Amino acid sequence: MVSAFLFDLDGVITDTAEFHYRSWKRLADEENIAFTREDNEKLRGVSRRDSLLLLLKGRVLSEADMLAWMDRKNGYYRDYLKDITEADLLPGVKGFLLTAKNHGIKIGLASASKNAKDVLDGLGVASLFDAVGDGYSVSNPKPAPDLFVWVAGRLATPPAQTVVFEDAEAGIEAALAAGMYAVGLGPIERVGKAHVVYPHLDGVNVDTVLAALPAQPR
Ligand code: BG6
Ligand code: MG
Repeated sequence: MVSAFLFDLDGVITDTAEFHYRSWKRLADEENIAFTREDNEKLRGVSRRDSLLLLLKGRVLSEADMLAWMDRKNGYYRDYLKDITEADLLPGVKGFLLTAKNHGIKIGLASASKNAKDVLDGLGVASLFDAVGDGYSVSNPKPAPDLFVWVAGRLATPPAQTVVFEDAEAGIEAALAAGMYAVGLGPIERVGKAHVVYPHLDGVNVDTVLAALPAQPR
């Protein structure tokens, strides 16, 4: 029996990875640090601070500079967010959320992003979510299970009845560590540890997902 679906935001509900990339790239260019799209793939699902550490590739900054650089990147990122509308929902997402609700399944958001609530508002889907966990909710980021556990707690749903939808390796690891089902969205090399993998949610049906899950998450 499944009673809740928890969704990651970036790469699952909307594709903000490109905005994150352009914002980090601008910062990296200003600071003369090499940063490619391939480097950016490693930042998928990773918290803002851990993303900066990856971008720095071992270079050490003072805490004050770390905070200032993260702030600068976030300013660039928030400029992109101003233009987000319902048209930025990934294909199939709205229908999938509505069908899940019709099945009586609770809907939670579990995003590492401190901007998650603003993104949901921009997308016009905030009211569909019964609980929202974001970059402020817990201190241990994915791959720690904490955020998924926190959101499931808000929904009062046991981990073994909870399904996580994730596009990042760190997110799949976090879901499995939480004792939840994991549905991976993306290439097998990235999300292959999930119980079920789809390229994206477009064309995926709630009943098909439920039927594809094993009897127990582990
Ligand atoms: C995740 C993104 O959802 O949020 C990461 O996949 C991002 O790329 C992280 O670094 C933190 O986001 P924010 O908005 O708090 O900087
Ligand atoms: Mg993601």
